[in-house]
Amino acid sequence: MLTVALPKGRLGEKVYRLLAGIGYPCDDFFNDHRKLILQSEDGRMRYFLTKPSDVGIYVERGAADIGIVGHDVLLETSPDVYELMDMGLGKCRLAVAGPIGFNDPDTAPLRVATKYPNVARRHFGMRDRDIDVIRLSGSIELAPLVNLSDVIVDIVETGATLRENHLCVLEDIAPSSARLIAGKSSYKFKHELVDAITAALRPLVAEPEKGETNR
Ligand code: PRP
Repeated sequence: MLTVALPKGRLGEKVYRLLAGIGYPCDDFFNDHRKLILQSEDGRMRYFLTKPSDVGIYVERGAADIGIVGHDVLLETSPDVYELMDMGLGKCRLAVAGPIGFNDPDTAPLRVATKYPNVARRHFGMRDRDIDVIRLSGSIELAPLVNLSDVIVDIVETGATLRENHLCVLEDIAPSSARLIAGKSSYKFKHELVDAITAALRPLVAEPEKGETNR
């Protein structure tokens, strides 16, 4: 039995389809919308559905053996796990964004709204730029529009949210895509099964669809 932490939402559904395709289908996956634990028909795979940002915690602490998590989340939370494979899905980039034409006056700490405080601190720390981190949970783009912050650090996928709110990317931080991760202890004891799954998935993710996203 292997347990896999899947991020709730479209990315998790795509990864589930891949796992179903290599032999771990689960009839109820698209029916039981409120169930958080689902099992493949043959009982060999158990799926946990978690908040995307929590996948690393489940895997690091051994509650799940493997998981799928965005590189952006790994950069923010730095879980102590093995990163096994780039799934080529959920492509986006972490960036600093702000009002079009924004020029940092550099006279006071820069107010940065974000869901990624550690990424923001590291990024501006490398530039010796003092920042005031304003931690938000969503709709980050609203912050500079209402003068809660000067800029934001967030993921940009299609760029539509920025465009529609008259904001733009000011600086790229890092590209991101979904990664297959494994817990260190799980890998030690179940590496044959984990390696077999990774090998079966690899050809399926080698050439992701053009324009593939996690939406
Ligand atoms: C994410 C992110 C941006 C948006 C970027 O938010 O925080 O707001 O997607 O995507 P785009 O470049 O394709 O417009 P999400 O939709 O996850 O919701 P949230 O605002 O609740 O975090």
